[in-house]
Amino acid sequence: MTEKVPVDLSGAAQTMLATLYLKALDADFARPVLGDRYAREAVSRLDYDFREIGITARWAPLITVRTAQYDIWARQFLAVHHQCTVMHLGCGLDSRVFRLDPGPDVRWYDIDYPAVIALREKIYPARPRYHLLASSATDQSWLDQIPADRPVLLLAEGISMYLADHEGVALLRRVVDRFRSGELQIDFYNRWAIRSQKMHTLVRRTGSTLHWAVDSPQDILSQVPGVRLLIAVTFFDASTFRRASGGFRLLSGLVGVVPPVRTALQYHRYAFGPVTCSPS
Ligand SMILES: C[S@@+](CC[C@H](N)C(=O)[O-])C[C@H]1O[C@@H](n2cnc3c(N)ncnc32)[C@H](O)[C@@H]1O
Repeated sequence: MTEKVPVDLSGAAQTMLATLYLKALDADFARPVLGDRYAREAVSRLDYDFREIGITARWAPLITVRTAQYDIWARQFLAVHHQCTVMHLGCGLDSRVFRLDPGPDVRWYDIDYPAVIALREKIYPARPRYHLLASSATDQSWLDQIPADRPVLLLAEGISMYLADHEGVALLRRVVDRFRSGELQIDFYNRWAIRSQKMHTLVRRTGSTLHWAVDSPQDILSQVPGVRLLIAVTFFDASTFRRASGGFRLLSGLVGVVPPVRTALQYHRYAFGPVTCSPS
């Protein structure tokens, strides 16, 4: 029997255990939203008591709707850009590179804190043209390690809220400055979600703090020159929300009639430079 891998994470890095676990629980549903078998396998390999982070299966769509939406958008980008670079920032133990299985001319970078990357190395196999970068997103040097010769997809799911506003904006500007063309696929919490963060069990249990609030794409368009909006949807409007169970959609839909709740979780997609990719 393979030995289980011990886990010792706290704060923002620990939150990725929750997203991983919810994906694993979703994979066991009769009708999963994401159906990520890699997440299920990864969870079974970890020596960790997931009860510690206080989450249950009924919350799974809060994460899987988002992940499934970004899988669709990333696939669309890859379908148009056969030769490109993907920078998957704040990857955690997400298995996107295996789910999407990009072609031979795609360079893929998974980037996260050193402790998370060390865990990743123990859980997932290596693959050609696949690189792990152990760095804080706010450290300016990681970007210099990535060749700027191809269109780029910056996919940053579930990380913006852990950055300070000025750090997040500076990061997006650096990406747009460094690459000739590409896309930014990134999700945000609005100001209400950031203000009410202590209501979130995960935030309390991990001792993490949320900072950067984005209320609408205008916040990004006004601060990151050169980007244009392709699409922005809320959790409730995402095409993948329809995959959640009827019970979940009914309950969350009731809460979602309150305006700040409706726009609490936002999934944005921007392009810069001469890129043509039709969003949906
Ligand atoms: C909520 S988890 C999301 C993980 C993954 N994207 C997913 O959806 O399953 C947040 C991730 O962002 C990472 N993160 C937060 N702040 C970061 C930073 N400054 N630099 C690098 N990674 C960061 C955490 O370590 C964690 O893996």
